[in-house]
Amino acid sequence: MPIVYKPEYTMAALLKLDNVSKTFGDREVLHGVSLEVAPKEVVFLVGPSGSGKSTLLRFCNLLEHPSSGAVLFEGADILKQKNVNALRQSVGMVFQSFNLYPHMTALWNVAIALRLVQRKSAREAREIAHHFLAEVGLAHRGSAYPAELSGGQQQRVAIARALALKPKLMLFDEPTSALDPELVGSVLDVIRKMRHEGMTMLIVSHEMQFAREAADKVVFLDQGRVVEAGAPAALFGNPQQQRTIEFLSRFSLAGSHG
Ligand SMILES: Nc1ncnc2c1ncn2[C@@H]1O[C@H](COP(=O)(O)OP(=O)(O)OP(=O)(O)O)[C@@H](O)[C@H]1O
Ligand SMILES: [Mg+2]
Repeated sequence: MPIVYKPEYTMAALLKLDNVSKTFGDREVLHGVSLEVAPKEVVFLVGPSGSGKSTLLRFCNLLEHPSSGAVLFEGADILKQKNVNALRQSVGMVFQSFNLYPHMTALWNVAIALRLVQRKSAREAREIAHHFLAEVGLAHRGSAYPAELSGGQQQRVAIARALALKPKLMLFDEPTSALDPELVGSVLDVIRKMRHEGMTMLIVSHEMQFAREAADKVVFLDQGRVVEAGAPAALFGNPQQQRTIEFLSRFSLAGSHG
């Protein structure tokens, strides 16, 4: 099925990074980056190590604050947001390292936030957790502890945990980078399903084949600047900038003509 590029000017952005910069010590690592994610859009952020991808992502749920510039979520400046918990329910994040509680079952890893953050009853939290474990293909593993699950299964529990809070936007920071190659597919399948169901997502990934297939828009970041951004067919098929060409040449995109 062809993936239709939805230009951002046709709809209001759900997330907007406006001219954000970041300085660590005396070193500026992001230099005036602007980026928009429209509702239901799937945006991939790609670029070399150290280009600032994680830092940019971390701005979006206040794990990090930009030194200048604005971050707007649903039109409101999140840097003025007093209720960080409310924002983090609306903006879910999945990390490379799954960050599950080792002493809790898969079900309770998902249910715990519903209990603590949303004050659900134990019964309701368990029901919702079970539903989202089923959504990620783990209905049968609710009673397993993280150490008893594969990396791919653990990452799917982490995704279920974020989804259970009913986020409006999901952030992924290299969700498959810690996985053995044979386990990557199960996690990508879940992200594909979320895309199909209309979830808005901003994804940092080195899976170029996946970006080409699943992105509405790809943003190439290098040395703290957006070098090039566009529909995947354009960015991968006909990159305009020399740095984009060099970066993409490190990946084998053979066979991905979608
Ligand atoms: N807390 C910090 N203190 C100082 N420097 C930092 C901090 N966090 C990130 N940096 C620096 O900022 C730059 C961008 O880092 P960032 O983690 O955002 O890059 P990245 O694109 O996610 O890289 P990778 O692909 O390796 O994950 C790097 O030079 C990094 O060393
Ligand atoms: Mg990173």
